[in-house]
Amino acid sequence: MTVQFAPPPKTDFVVDAGPRELAFFAAHGYLVFDRVTTDEELEWLREVYDALTALPRTGFPDMFFDPSRPYGTKEFPDLGQLIRPERFVPRVVETAMWRNAKRIATRLLGVAEEKVENWGHLVLKPPRVGGETPWHQDEAYWEPEKTYHAVGGWMPLDDATIENGCLWFLPGSHEGDVLAHKHLGDDPAVHVLELVREPDLSGAVPVPLKAGGMSFHHPRTLHYARPNTTNGPRRAWANEFQLAPIELAVPADRPWVDEGRRAIRQKMEAAGRG
Ligand code: NI
Repeated sequence: MTVQFAPPPKTDFVVDAGPRELAFFAAHGYLVFDRVTTDEELEWLREVYDALTALPRTGFPDMFFDPSRPYGTKEFPDLGQLIRPERFVPRVVETAMWRNAKRIATRLLGVAEEKVENWGHLVLKPPRVGGETPWHQDEAYWEPEKTYHAVGGWMPLDDATIENGCLWFLPGSHEGDVLAHKHLGDDPAVHVLELVREPDLSGAVPVPLKAGGMSFHHPRTLHYARPNTTNGPRRAWANEFQLAPIELAVPADRPWVDEGRRAIRQKMEAAGRG
């Protein structure tokens, strides 16, 4: 299914990471850019975003879904996610956001750009009800059978504030292991993970960000976002960048991933989508 859109406005706006940015990322596990796109392009991205988050829902991650409620829930999400929005609007790859984010991520990964695979990920916190994103490490969601070299990018389409759910990071947490996680509310049919035990989070920093800025984080950097308690939406366009993951001889110990795999299979069978 593709949704027809005019091409994004033409721009040659370029942002890149230099030695100072790379050193900050290496030390802290995150990095912030004030701008990776133009006002005109932001308008275009908002139109695309609103169209895609209004598509019919299946209750599963193939469409816009609620990772904070059990798979199969078709109501409008309290916390909404759409993975790979460029499936529906391929022209997203023609944007400055896409090019700049990939350029910066490639520097952070320290590899040749053609080795980097990337995809988008919309995250919506609707006005008033937008749920909390618990503290987590992105790698906790991934296959324990593989090892990853990856970085995440996150761009708000609305100014992100503490009140509407900007990201918080725990600086330096990227140096540690993947911590024990579990499914939100101990329900493996809920996609969202939370920590089993929170470490000392007193050093955590909120990163308010104007629309069109982008933060990057290491897959082990602990991060979090408060619920959206404002009257406006908090729309974010995230991007994931990875090298092809490598199969591990001995899988990592992440039992919550298997629990989640079983739960989604059961829910899909129950929904007649087996
Ligand atoms: Ni995350």
